[in-house]
Amino acid sequence: MHDKEAAELTDDRLLSSESIQEDQGLEQAIRPDDLEHYIGQEEIKNNLRIFIAAAKERKEPLDHVLLYGPPGLGKTTLARIIAHEMGAAIRTTSGPALERPGDLAAVLSSLGPGDVLFIDEIHRLSRHVEEVLYPAMEDFCMDIVIGKDDTAHSVRLNLPPFTLVGATTRAGYLSPPLRDRFGVISRLQFYSPAELAQIVSRTASVLNVVIREDACHEIARRSRGTPRIANRLLKRIRDFAQIESDGVITKEVAGTGLDRLQVDDAGLDRVDHQLIEGMIRKFGGGPVGLDTLAAAIGEERHTIEDVHEPYLLQSGFIQRTPRGRIVTDLAYHHFHMKRKE
Ligand code: ADE
Repeated sequence: MHDKEAAELTDDRLLSSESIQEDQGLEQAIRPDDLEHYIGQEEIKNNLRIFIAAAKERKEPLDHVLLYGPPGLGKTTLARIIAHEMGAAIRTTSGPALERPGDLAAVLSSLGPGDVLFIDEIHRLSRHVEEVLYPAMEDFCMDIVIGKDDTAHSVRLNLPPFTLVGATTRAGYLSPPLRDRFGVISRLQFYSPAELAQIVSRTASVLNVVIREDACHEIARRSRGTPRIANRLLKRIRDFAQIESDGVITKEVAGTGLDRLQVDDAGLDRVDHQLIEGMIRKFGGGPVGLDTLAAAIGEERHTIEDVHEPYLLQSGFIQRTPRGRIVTDLAYHHFHMKRKE
């Protein structure tokens, strides 16, 4: 096999290929591709606008950007937007895909000048792989070891200037030396119901589905502050509207559809219910440790921590204490349950 073919094969394993992305045409269209059409996260957008304009004026790549926050809030979308606004190509990979230092070296050496390298789940890079990233981020170079044992020596390879965009659900899991090498660190927030309603309305027009304004708000209100959830619920409600009514999404169609999808009035789903009801029934409302809780309801600890807990904490259904998680009065009220003395 020629070296070039080998390199391309390596690339396919480590980088998501453009043709796969093209197949997801409608999925891509749902995501805005510039800051102007990105709804919400105003502070992040306003800052990015300045940093991007300044970098472009200086004809430099944008400083490395770390985006963190719960899943589904638009980290990947923002990474694509950054590349688009910089007029740069984006290469996408993830922490778990980069198993060995050589994997990252292959990706880095495929970058062109100004490219954006997006590493999703960057907290899952191993220490050895991270060590290749440090000089790449700081000095745009990497040290390659050539030869073995006595003849082993390291050669420094220059890389084109590039921008690393890292995404993670948990900034606390990043090693300090890696975190310190990002010039921009932004935390994504849950969206307001008004922002989510705008997103639902925008997605509906991309999908060519007619939806009433009050139906957008109904879906938005029950989407846990998360565009990915809002867009998923919209697609399922569209199915109900198409098969069981005239295709138009009214507030009533949305409301009954959401009930049938087991999304309650506060947007809590089946797992949220299992979690809170489990805490109440099995642990008297807590405090209960995360591992104990995970075992009791048969969910992964990380899924609870990354996916379910952030919104339950933010909306005041549960609280974290030094002794474990506790259920709040708000949750007892929501579930029509009484606290046992
Ligand atoms: N689709 C998903 N997230 C979005 C956002 N923040 N703005 C507009 N459309 C979106």
